[in-house]
Amino acid sequence: MNHLISRNITQLEAVARMRRDFIANVSHELRTPLTSIQGYTETLLDSAPENNHNREFLEIIRKSAVRMSRLTEDLLTLARVESGEQRFDIQRVAPADVLQEVVESFRELARTQSVELKVEGAAPNSVLADSEAIHQVFSNLVDNALKYATSGGRIILGARPMAQAVEFYVQDFGPGIPSEHLARLFERFYRVDKARSRESGGTGLGLAIAKHIVMAHGGAIRAQSDLNHGSTFLFTLPLAH
Ligand SMILES: Nc1ncnc2c1ncn2[C@@H]1O[C@H](COP(=O)(O)OP(=O)(O)O)[C@@H](O)[C@H]1O
Ligand SMILES: [Mg+2]
Repeated sequence: MNHLISRNITQLEAVARMRRDFIANVSHELRTPLTSIQGYTETLLDSAPENNHNREFLEIIRKSAVRMSRLTEDLLTLARVESGEQRFDIQRVAPADVLQEVVESFRELARTQSVELKVEGAAPNSVLADSEAIHQVFSNLVDNALKYATSGGRIILGARPMAQAVEFYVQDFGPGIPSEHLARLFERFYRVDKARSRESGGTGLGLAIAKHIVMAHGGAIRAQSDLNHGSTFLFTLPLAH
């Protein structure tokens, strides 16, 4: 009995791996043709087409190619992290440094949207993490928060000490998320409002990528929301002893 179960699990794992490899291969194959579509469309746009229709069509082609590139990049990232193929460079990292870097990299974008990025109490204890990967997690969360933050509003970032971990968070005061969606947000392509997500350039993979990076570090991620009052995304990273 036992060896039958373990054989089935091995088969399931093999199927899952084949599926991931296939997605990674397709994404990789799409990169080059997409780059060429983007490049040639931009060249045509630069030659200032006189016909307004042509200009409009070229603009649509360019935007679609950009969206597809984003999608293939996110699919590749997700496949790499999920398969364990992505190697993480785990080091002692100070929460204050992570938070500072995130704020710096989003400062300009936030300013253009008149949103204030605020860091609140950084936990003093170091965590064990790949700082680039954690930067990516934060980027996905802040990117979302900025999409939903109201102009003139603010986004709060912070880190608080827990028993065996540090909990990082990104809080916004946007529209919030109805509770029935909270558990599923981290599934790939799950969006509360598909049209809005696409329009804002979202791929629907940001939170799935964030979840897999956090899990690979031995942490956990979750979302809290108070409808009409905003959302908070929280994730933990293990303490460095
Ligand atoms: N800060 C937020 N406020 C409200 N809804 C959010 C927020 N962050 C994420 N969501 C919801 O979760 C969905 C999934 O997020 P994500 O995986 O980053 O995909 P994308 O940003 O490409 O739509 C979003 O489409 C949106 O419906
Ligand atoms: Mg996103």
